Amino acid sequence: MILDPHALLSRLRVIESLAFIPSVTSTNDLGRRVMEECISNDIPLPRALLVAGQQTAGRGRGSRSWHSPAGGLYASLLHVRPLQNLPTLPLEIAVMVAEFLRQTFSLDARIKWPNDILVNGRKIAGILIEARTHEGNAYTVIGIGINVARVTGDLSTTATSIEECRRGPMQDLDNVTVAFVEALDQAMAEANRDDAVGRWNALTAHRAGDPIAFRIGSDQVRGEWDGIDSFGRARIREGGKVREVSASDLILIGPDDMSS
Ligand code: BTN
Repeated sequence: MILDPHALLSRLRVIESLAFIPSVTSTNDLGRRVMEECISNDIPLPRALLVAGQQTAGRGRGSRSWHSPAGGLYASLLHVRPLQNLPTLPLEIAVMVAEFLRQTFSLDARIKWPNDILVNGRKIAGILIEARTHEGNAYTVIGIGINVARVTGDLSTTATSIEECRRGPMQDLDNVTVAFVEALDQAMAEANRDDAVGRWNALTAHRAGDPIAFRIGSDQVRGEWDGIDSFGRARIREGGKVREVSASDLILIGPDDMSS
């Protein structure tokens, strides 16, 4: 990477440290190591952003892997906030990524609960937030992966990329990265806003009443989408009852799999 972190940092308000790493197992793994060391040595967590050119063992939600060849954007931000503000963090980050793709590339980016980012029904970005509590605060590693270059192979049936959606010439990854870092910094400067749920709702791919199938543990349950509550939990209507489900225990299966 040829980015100049010093020039970029001078324009940022929240992010105080930037590392561009050519290749790493996972930026979240690296972020977690820093976080664990800070907690065990009782030192403040730096507001650092780790960006990798590629990941050799990128991780997704629910112990899935995240395919991370060169040409994508892979970043993890270290962030501390009061524990009571943790529930809206996944919503805020999903809104940030969707708005970044909409404003910078004019893409119709939509959020699939809790925080997959889709364009035309295919996934263009994913978010993996890992947190530990420490002295009343949530210490978090916010991992964001965005497909910038075209996705190839089997993944191309379910995933898309900025390059594919723009149908233009290959995007310059350095320019995309600079724009992304600035957008993330601005979003973090405005973090903890009380309108996270409203902003998330404005960008979601789900509509009230949409059929939805999901798994909780080994159970498969079907219901209808009924929005999210103020904690970011999905409200799933089953008959007359509404069940509130948090992201950690719900795996969306999607309408295509409902008949199975
Ligand atoms: C998902 O949709 O399942 C979440 C994908 C998150 C991928 C990003 S890429 C940067 C960071 N490092 C990782 O290993 N994962 C996250």
